Amino acid sequence: MNILAVYAHPNPASFNHAILETVVKVFLAKGHACTVRDLYGIRFDPILGPADFEAIQKGSARPDVADEQQFIKEAELLVLIHPIWWFSMPAILKGWIDRVLSFGFAYTVTDQGPAPLLRGKKAAIFNTTGGTEEVYEQGGFQTALRASLETGTLGFCGIETIHHRFFYAVPYVTPEERTAMLVQAKQDAERLVSS
Ligand SMILES: Cc1cc2nc3c(=O)[nH]c(=O)nc-3n(C[C@H](O)[C@H](O)[C@H](O)COP(=O)(O)O)c2cc1C
Repeated sequence: MNILAVYAHPNPASFNHAILETVVKVFLAKGHACTVRDLYGIRFDPILGPADFEAIQKGSARPDVADEQQFIKEAELLVLIHPIWWFSMPAILKGWIDRVLSFGFAYTVTDQGPAPLLRGKKAAIFNTTGGTEEVYEQGGFQTALRASLETGTLGFCGIETIHHRFFYAVPYVTPEERTAMLVQAKQDAERLVSS
């Protein structure tokens, strides 16, 4: 399988980076191809600007966006790895979505309304939080995050989310709990590529 891992965290010593390393190791060990887009590492420009709209109107894309779109075209499974910041995603990932999942590439509009263009692709999401699971449940945050990313964004483009893992209260857990979380991430990755 061809897998695209999109990773958004500025710190290579972060827990998110440990998740990235863990899942990529599994994918490669199982014989799959995995491309990693480290958005901070490549200094991805997250600002959807006038030149992007001009390109979209011409039916094209700016070169950096075209590169990312090519990675998506080639991928069967998109793996998003990011922390929850302000009950959303880091701005660099939001900007990647704004610019890369563009009109004419990820969706179009027909007489019947919007239509997805990326049907057949699947997604898996790994999120880390500072808040506890209770906070997320009581506040309805998990439901809101799922609706926004799985349905409103990926689903709108035809991408089916087959896995969404939340690792809670990451800054406050013990080293043993962190290790257990990485074991969970490894098992998740194995399941993702097992069928
Ligand atoms: C700018 C910023 C905003 C944050 N906002 C939230 C938030 O809204 N909800 C939450 O649960 N945690 C929030 N956090 C905590 C992070 O989610 C948490 O520290 C991170 O997931 C831990 O993973 P890491 O060690 O890989 O950074 C925030 C952290 C930062 C830096």
